[in-house]
This record gives sequence, C-alpha cells and structure tokens, in this order.
Amino acid sequence: MFNAEKFIDKTVEKIKQEVKRKALIAFSGGVDSTVCAALVNKAIGKRLIAVHVDTGYMRKDESKNVKILMEKIGLNYHFIDASKEFYTALRGVEDPEEKRKIIGEKFIRIFEKVAEEENIEFLVQGTIAPDWIESGGALRDTIKSHHNVGGLPETMKLKLVEPLHDLYKDEVRKIARVFKLQVSERQPFPGPGLAIRIIGEATPERTEIAREACYIVEKEIEDAVGKGFMEMPWQYFAVLLPVKSVGVQGDKRAYGYVIAVRAVHSIDAMTCAFSKIPNEIIDKISTRITNEMKDKINRVVYDVTNKPPSTVEWE
Ligand code: XMP
Repeated sequence: MFNAEKFIDKTVEKIKQEVKRKALIAFSGGVDSTVCAALVNKAIGKRLIAVHVDTGYMRKDESKNVKILMEKIGLNYHFIDASKEFYTALRGVEDPEEKRKIIGEKFIRIFEKVAEEENIEFLVQGTIAPDWIESGGALRDTIKSHHNVGGLPETMKLKLVEPLHDLYKDEVRKIARVFKLQVSERQPFPGPGLAIRIIGEATPERTEIAREACYIVEKEIEDAVGKGFMEMPWQYFAVLLPVKSVGVQGDKRAYGYVIAVRAVHSIDAMTCAFSKIPNEIIDKISTRITNEMKDKINRVVYDVTNKPPSTVEWE
C-alpha cells in the first residue's frame, strides 16, 4: 500500500542530498509537475525555478491559469510564450512521432537557455511510470515517445531529476492531496498538448478548432458530472480529424471537418475503457460543437475503443 507521507519525507531528503545547486522545473500546471514542484520546493526552496512554456498547444486559458497557480504556490518562475516558435517548428509535420520529438527538443532547448542564464544544473520533470514504460523503457517496444522521455534530445546539458519516476497517477494524486493542491483531481493533459489531438498538421488555425472543441467537451462533461448524470471519466477531450465530410447547413451544402470525442475510464493509463456516457450528454456535446463551430465542423463522432488496442490519445 502506497504511503504518501512516507514517500514525501523520503523523497525530500533524497532531493536535498542530490540537488546541491539550482534546479529548473518544467511546470505545466498538471498534477505531476505541480506535485513535483511541491516536493522540490520543500527540499530546496528558492533554488527551484519553475518554467512554464506556452507552446500554443495549451487548452483555453490554461497558461494564464498556470501563471496564477505558480504565484499562489509561491514559486520562483519564468513564463515563456513560445507559441510562434512551436507553430513554426511543426509546420508541415504530420507524423505523430516526429511531432513529439520536435516538441521534446524545443522544450529542452528553452529550458537550457534559462538554465544558462540562471546558472542551473538540474532539470526536474514530472515523469511517471506509464510515460517511460510506453516510451520503450525497461526493454519494451516504443508505443509512443512521451515528450518528457523519448522526446528528449540525445545531447542534453542538464542533469535529470525525476522524483515521481516509479509512481502511477493514483499515487501522485495521493501526494497532491497531502499537499492540499487543488489540481489533485485534474485530468491528465499530455506534454505535447493539443498538437497530438490534431491529426495531421497542427497549424494555428486547426489548433484553434481543437482548442474550442476540447473546451466544449470538458465543460459539458464537467457539468453533467456536477449534476450527477455520469461518473467523472479519467480523461475527456476532443480530437480534430484531418478528413472533411459533407453535411447540410440550413438548405445549403456544407463540407467541414470531423471532431472525435474521447472519454475514458482508467486506473493507471496503462489500459482504459471508453466511457459509457449517457446519450443525452453526447447529444448536447455534438449539438454545441456543430452550432458554435458551424463554419468549421459538421460532424461529431464518439470513440468507442478501449486501450488496448487503442491508446488514450490518438497520437
Ligand atoms: P496513451 O495515449 O499513451 O496515454 O495511452 C497514456 C496517458 O499518458 C498521457 N500522455 C502523455 N503525458 N507526456 C505526458 O506527460 C506525453 O507525451 C504524453 N502522451 C500521452 C495521456 O494523456 C494519458 O493520460
């Protein structure tokens, strides 16, 4: 049985021994990086510098809220808007692994720049067990390169510290609860962000579509959970497909993109089952997306596959 208090004490002591100088934390504002920041902050205080990168592939208002969170926790932080840089780097890129590698490399180069300016030796990352297992760790096949693992460039000047390396999400959430972090129950959001929820090229225009659709899915599901109509899924989001299909708007022909809605139940992200959402909720999501985004989307489908054979994210 995992004991969060014991883990915190042991890990804080270990970080104190290991990190004698300054460390940088890649802070996304998710459960993993926030828990990591709390642990390292406890161990080395102001020698920890949090860096949040707005890649342009974040969810609606997410980076703005992360800034507020970093201030609330009292972290020393840098906020970097690199959206233009990321959009340019992914121009013309369609292959999922290539996207992940480019994003991973970009993150690291930004962190290295801050590290050089601030004379930082260590990079703290909130990597957890499923991230490295599915990135081909422990002699397994590479399912996908999680940006904070397989997506790291081979030459990296910073020394890695990964306090949550062997934990699963439910254990990380237990630590978050001990620290009384509000983010403890947040759904996971992958490091490469919306870029891997846009199948094909993740252009700024297509990113706006995915961002808005994700926002609607999140709002409607959270609303339904709040009203007791369904259980909170492990993850719930929208995926923008690269195909267009024919539809009808009023009495006119429409030709628009397709949004796939994904909602899954899981314990540790290693396997998952698609959520059996009430039809009325799916109907509401579909109607909202096709009404509010009528010039872009004219079809919504629901993903009914488990993991395996699918993965949670589409890329
Ligand atoms: P998959 O899609 O591999 O996802 O079934 C398993 C869990 O991991 C999340 N995920 C990531 N998390 N960096 C992360 O920090 C990544 O590159 C990444 N890719 C997937 C995914 O959202 C799910 O919770």
